[in-house]
Amino acid sequence: MSTIRFDGRVAIVTGAGGGLGRHYALELARRGAKVVVNDLGGSRDGTGHSDAALAVVEEIRAAGGEAMSNGGNVAEYAQMAEMVAKAKEAWGGVHILINNAGVLRDKTFAKMDPADFEFVVRVHLLGSAFATKACWETFREQNYGRVLMTASSSGLFGNFGQANYGAAKLGIAGLTKTLSLEGAKNDIRVNTIAPTAGTRMTEDLFPQAAFEAFSPDKVAPGALYLVSEDAPTNTILGAGAGAFQASYVTLTPGTLLTGDDLSPEGVAAHWDAITDRTDEIVPKTGAEQAMTIGKLLQGG
Ligand code: NAI
Repeated sequence: MSTIRFDGRVAIVTGAGGGLGRHYALELARRGAKVVVNDLGGSRDGTGHSDAALAVVEEIRAAGGEAMSNGGNVAEYAQMAEMVAKAKEAWGGVHILINNAGVLRDKTFAKMDPADFEFVVRVHLLGSAFATKACWETFREQNYGRVLMTASSSGLFGNFGQANYGAAKLGIAGLTKTLSLEGAKNDIRVNTIAPTAGTRMTEDLFPQAAFEAFSPDKVAPGALYLVSEDAPTNTILGAGAGAFQASYVTLTPGTLLTGDDLSPEGVAAHWDAITDRTDEIVPKTGAEQAMTIGKLLQGG
């Protein structure tokens, strides 16, 4: 196994004042990257402020690494643009972005305040889009960029009480798909990680033993690989407790309905064939789905 290093690379990790982001930042710096440690330093529900980012910068410096802190809010595009400008001014470029910042405002959908739906989508989905947009032109000019988005099993598969969070997280996985296509010609690779880790976000959900088994350092290797020189693109990686899994959006071959069958009753009658997963595929683009329809029309 050759060693993965980040010498000469500038990395931004959002929400790196604690939890997973802190581990990513420490490990990137240990492997040679100059790191912008971004964190607003709020509480789990996104209220308040603290110097969380500064403490991580001090840890990195104490270990001999290079880092700067940034207290910007990912949900404010202007603050993300300013963060990127400062990193470029100090270190001449930005090569890696890990969109990791996040908040929780869990409630069943029935009880959820629309404002809490909007806030969570804003921080996760718009925050990831804004931080990425702030770096995008630099990545294009450099013909190099690595972006890691953070989704969640709650978005990919659903979780009771997390309609706002789940919607944002699946949106983030969707953002990855189009950006990986648009970035390809400039060697910008975009991936998603869906972590499971014992952090303050999950401390009241995990029993103590699981909290320790799911320590953030067991997720970080997956994150670092996905922002490395030889990273793949357009992947969704599940990571927790040292287990790594790939997740896909798939498409069944389906069936073509005509005549009387082209009716709600026909859809009901052919439901088993429509949902039969034999020979399902993972389309690389939306256009690929259209091509499979074309094939069905040609009788194939
Ligand atoms: P965490 O709460 O320790 O870390 C999130 C960080 O984001 C905090 O330090 C917080 O201050 C920061 N932050 C929040 N809003 C911000 C904003 N507007 N601008 C800048 N920074 C902001 O939690 P954890 O677990 O480390 O979460 C990291 C990411 O992983 C999040 O996106 C989370 O949704 C995701 N995730 C975590 C899972 C887990 O099992 N811990 C499961 C699935 C996803």
